[in-house]
Amino acid sequence: MCLKLLLLACVGLGERIPKVEEVFIIGDLHADIHCAKHWVRRSGYVDLDAWTWTGGASALVFMGDYVDRGPFSRQVLELVRNLTTSFPEKVFALMGNHDLYFLADAVLPQGARDLMGAPVQDFSYAFIHPEEYLNWILPGEQAEASSKLSTLFAALGEVYAQQRRKRGPVPVMLKEEFGQMSIFDFAPLRHNATLSNALNQSLHFWQRRLARGMRDSGLARWLAERPFAVELAGALFVHGGLPGKTTREQLDMLGPLGDGDFSELFSSGRLDLLHEAVTYRGLHGAAGCSEVDKVLDLLPDIEMIVLGHTPGEEVRRSCGNRLVSADSALSRYYRAYGNHYCPVQVAAERKGACRRTVAKQCAGQASRLRGGQLTPVPSEPNPYEASAKRKAGRLISEANAEEL
Ligand SMILES: *[C@@H]1O[C@H](CO)[C@@H](O)[C@H](O)[C@H]1NC(C)=O
Ligand SMILES: *[C@@H]1O[C@H](CO)[C@@H](O)[C@H](O)[C@H]1NC(C)=O
Ligand SMILES: *[C@@H]1O[C@H](CO)[C@@H](O)[C@H](O)[C@H]1NC(C)=O
Repeated sequence: MCLKLLLLACVGLGERIPKVEEVFIIGDLHADIHCAKHWVRRSGYVDLDAWTWTGGASALVFMGDYVDRGPFSRQVLELVRNLTTSFPEKVFALMGNHDLYFLADAVLPQGARDLMGAPVQDFSYAFIHPEEYLNWILPGEQAEASSKLSTLFAALGEVYAQQRRKRGPVPVMLKEEFGQMSIFDFAPLRHNATLSNALNQSLHFWQRRLARGMRDSGLARWLAERPFAVELAGALFVHGGLPGKTTREQLDMLGPLGDGDFSELFSSGRLDLLHEAVTYRGLHGAAGCSEVDKVLDLLPDIEMIVLGHTPGEEVRRSCGNRLVSADSALSRYYRAYGNHYCPVQVAAERKGACRRTVAKQCAGQASRLRGGQLTPVPSEPNPYEASAKRKAGRLISEANAEEL
């Protein structure tokens, strides 16, 4: 049983953790492998070519949300997993809400239905980017998938156009759920049963491939082992937040989902608490600082709460430096398109919300925490960018690679 909030103890490292002098904090990466590598290099702690730790007594913390919005969830998961397994006493990677849903979709027959009302793969915005599927199918299946994806993006373009006309969101699911419209109600799928059936079948097939790939690659297991809170260098790291009413006993329950049977993990009595820890936004609100103080009162050695989940242009500090909002929209896909899916690999007609291009440079900030002082770290062009770009562009057509 795991009684210490110092979750390191829960994953069997306990007292062997050396004293941490500095922490480099990387916010929500949202499936941007190019910028994921950029920020890891920017820490100065890891030589990604030699794959060695050069950070001495420092630690690297990832705030969660490795997946979705961009098309490289798999690559980001693999990079972060590789870092946590290669440098287990140095690298800490939190669970984010998107990661929790991604995991649920991969391991539960009903997907993330209990958490989100539907498997997140059925939402037509903000969750699994359609081009993500290209990472999980066989090379021989990619050409056909690309043409189906063009159809899907064309229909999504219609959805976005309608949103513009209505000046508000048009709730659309990939399937008909909650009585909402489905993507099949939009041209070119509308009134074309042949096209609809083919895409429908492909979507189901790709979803099964992704789920199986997550399990077979061990990434599902790795995600299930992500802690929901980490205590390090006088700071408490949580993806979403913790309400002021949180009890000491609940803090002790924020370790990883565990290593049991997946369906057992998700039916555990802790799930509501864990879901709140990855989604709560109350600490940013008007009464947020008093809630921050209540949580900090439970933790004598902790002076600061660091959160991801709620994006801004930069890292923000509030409540007299007791609260840090570390999600500065590091994913270029999110910066370009927000909650829309726009094609990267498939050069579909760029209309409406998809007219912007994904920036070449990484933007936003990471943070360095040392001696209780937090310093935002801006992005920086560096000589590795070009080669990182080529590697990250494995699935990107030559024409689009230049844009990245
Ligand atoms: C992990 O790092 C090692 C050493 O560089 C490399 O050989 C391996 O391909 C990496 N794996 C992943 C999944 O990135
Ligand atoms: C349905 O779409 C296919 C593929 O684009 C096209 O060949 C076919 O003519 C369309 N059918 C109708 C009835 O529009
Ligand atoms: C998609 O397929 C599912 C199951 O195979 C079916 O229930 C559903 O009606 C289909 N939807 C469309 C739009 O073809």
